[in-house]
Amino acid sequence: MSDYLNDVIKGLKAKDKYLLSRYFYDDIGDGLFQEIMTLDEYYLSRAEKEIFENHAEAICAEFPQQAFRMAELGAGDGTKTRFLLQAALEAKLDFHYHPIDISANVLDILSANLKKWVPELKTEGLAQEYFEALRGLAKMEGKPLVVLFLGSNIGNFRRDNVDVFMAELSNSLRPGDLFLLGVDKKKDPNRILAAYNDSRGVTAAFNFNSLRRINRELGGSFDLSKFKFYNSYDPHSGESRSFLISLVKQDVYIEAAKQSFHFEAHEAIHTETSRKYGSADLKDLAQKHGFKIRTEFTDSENLYRDQIWEKL
Ligand code: AVI
Repeated sequence: MSDYLNDVIKGLKAKDKYLLSRYFYDDIGDGLFQEIMTLDEYYLSRAEKEIFENHAEAICAEFPQQAFRMAELGAGDGTKTRFLLQAALEAKLDFHYHPIDISANVLDILSANLKKWVPELKTEGLAQEYFEALRGLAKMEGKPLVVLFLGSNIGNFRRDNVDVFMAELSNSLRPGDLFLLGVDKKKDPNRILAAYNDSRGVTAAFNFNSLRRINRELGGSFDLSKFKFYNSYDPHSGESRSFLISLVKQDVYIEAAKQSFHFEAHEAIHTETSRKYGSADLKDLAQKHGFKIRTEFTDSENLYRDQIWEKL
């Protein structure tokens, strides 16, 4: 049984049903996420781009001034990192760039983009698990490592998984190595609600894609008109949480699972968490995992931040 099918069955059998948001990202989901990043309401990508445009020089001044390796976890198509890479080259920093993604296909697209945008960049993509790749890099020639994790991707981890991720990251780095973390801030809850439930319904379609994908790939029989998209924000935990709510009592058959899944009317499937972090949340996280926060940069509207952490 594939991991995907296994995860779908586990999620739909759980007492509080869920589908893992990592499965949003098939070709259709990738396209919808690209569209989300251009929406007025979705301020995150714009804010991070502005930070890189306005503070790239100061960020680069924090990077090692001797030869180093820059690794990026989940680089996507490179649009986030492009400005930073350009600035680092302009600052004459001596580095190799290593985007890490388990999908060789993603890396091929990225590498074609980078050839166009920053042809002089020394790039070597690594189609491996994040930490396997980082440990390999840490062993190479003893050059310092700068690890980028941008786009508020850290927000999509479930609570316990953040600690697993941070512990693995910390173990893969040596003292003095740097971690550049891009992360969304806690803010006016209405601003967050609008970002995750946009007026054109692109985010809703992005969430619905998790049902469409089950229909396409696992022979599911979800009738999308019998579900509605709902999003909430909890200002204490900083969690924006998205759900698909069953409008009626229904059974949905999934061919690949050879079984039906029962939904009561108003029963919810949790589809995504996008956690927002306050300063104190980040301080705690850094301290807990053996990092010191060196500095941070924010955008002109104070919505988003990029922090530079140093491994102690
Ligand atoms: C990829 N990730 C950081 C996005 C986020 O903001 O959590 C995914 C997303 N979900 C809805 N809109 C965007």
